[in-house]
Amino acid sequence: MSTPTPAGAGSEQVKVAVVYYSSTGTVAALAKEISEAAEKAGAEIRLRRAPELAPQSGIDSNPAWAENQRATAGIPEATPDDVDWADAVLFGTPTRFGNVSSQLKQVLDQLGGLWGEGRLADKVYSGFASSATLHGGQESTLLALYNTIHHFGGLIVAPGYTDPAKFADGNPYGTSHVDAQGDKPVDETARTAARIQAERVVRIARAVKAGLSV
Ligand SMILES: Cc1cc2nc3c(=O)[nH]c(=O)nc-3n(C[C@H](O)[C@H](O)[C@H](O)COP(=O)(O)O)c2cc1C
Repeated sequence: MSTPTPAGAGSEQVKVAVVYYSSTGTVAALAKEISEAAEKAGAEIRLRRAPELAPQSGIDSNPAWAENQRATAGIPEATPDDVDWADAVLFGTPTRFGNVSSQLKQVLDQLGGLWGEGRLADKVYSGFASSATLHGGQESTLLALYNTIHHFGGLIVAPGYTDPAKFADGNPYGTSHVDAQGDKPVDETARTAARIQAERVVRIARAVKAGLSV
């Protein structure tokens, strides 16, 4: 299934912020795939990571966590300005007991000022997640994330089953991946879902921006 682009909406340059938290690199890999796909779809991109809240001793005790910290050190930390700047924001988080990670939540909780000024409304938002286990809480994590978007007055653009490939990954709420405690790196199924979601967000954000500008 594909949805046509509304007339006149094709030329809008949209700004997309991909804001994520990742301890051991799974969500970081999804964020990279999503930002590359959004850029390919014509968007201007800001890829941003949530500032770490865990103690360095905890990070150093887990080789995958320490390696991801090293590998992503060059990605700027997210600030409220990144959300303010964007026409569309994709938030990514690992599942934490079926919920959003505290690190990404801290980014959201710093948006009160923008929320108070009404600057978070009318933007497009979407989410992506990962878990260690199948049925380990990806959907509840994304739905918990989307609670916040309702308070923003944001426009949630979930992937749904808008592409035949969505029946392979099976998560209409957002891209997700089961990493089996780090044994299963992000695979082609999740990467395809990431690209579908990114392209859809760019397309809908472009249409919303065009529609709001008239
Ligand atoms: C405190 C904590 C809670 C977690 N809760 C869950 C959970 O409820 N279900 C699950 O499947 N995985 C859970 N996980 C595992 C991570 O969500 C999972 O490994 C995720 O893919 C890691 O993403 P990352 O590599 O981007 O950090 C938890 C991990 C931690 C540290």
